[in-house]
Amino acid sequence: MDKKIVFATNNKHKLDEIRSILDASYTIVSMDEIGCYEDIPETAHTLEGNALLKAQYIKTHYGYDCFADDTGLEVRALDNAPGVYSARYAGESKDSKANMQKVLKELENQMDRSARFRTVIALIIGRKEYLFEGVIEGKLIDEARGNAGFGYDPVFVPEGYTKTFAEMEIDMKNKISHRAKAVEKLKEFLDEKRLD
Ligand code: IMP
Repeated sequence: MDKKIVFATNNKHKLDEIRSILDASYTIVSMDEIGCYEDIPETAHTLEGNALLKAQYIKTHYGYDCFADDTGLEVRALDNAPGVYSARYAGESKDSKANMQKVLKELENQMDRSARFRTVIALIIGRKEYLFEGVIEGKLIDEARGNAGFGYDPVFVPEGYTKTFAEMEIDMKNKISHRAKAVEKLKEFLDEKRLD
């Protein structure tokens, strides 16, 4: 019988992506579908902390096994900023262009332009908590290129590639991305668990 797991998001793009990957093994349910319309506060200071906060909220208030994700851009020369603050780096309006401009400004005189995207997924099954991480290393260029994707995609070139994430086909990005890697680890874990 299919097992139900709540994904603590209402982001349709993320739901579609995860459903296509976990497909046969689990029924993935959104927050809407369990009647949860809260904007769960992300008040932790790490990606791990925020992912756990969201998953714990669902477990505590609704009782379901669940998982949640959090992602950040970590720039080496900026001591891993913006990191957990990536969405609001240039202010509460969550403006992607302003966020990119701020990062590029801060990197203006830096030789080291290396950066990485890091996704953390927190999973709660029963009373146990598990964390999965996906990382893609790369570098930041000094001018935005490309129209696909979102967030910092136009200024990020993954290692081994010449195109930015925003210049790649979405399928290509989704194959190599930080999120894809974290989700792959989650899938492996859930697949093994089914065999127990
Ligand atoms: P979230 O945790 O997935 O909501 O991501 C937080 C923030 O990180 C987003 O608002 C974006 O600024 C940035 N971000 C996350 N994933 C990506 C990505 O795949 N490309 C570019 N920026 C991203």
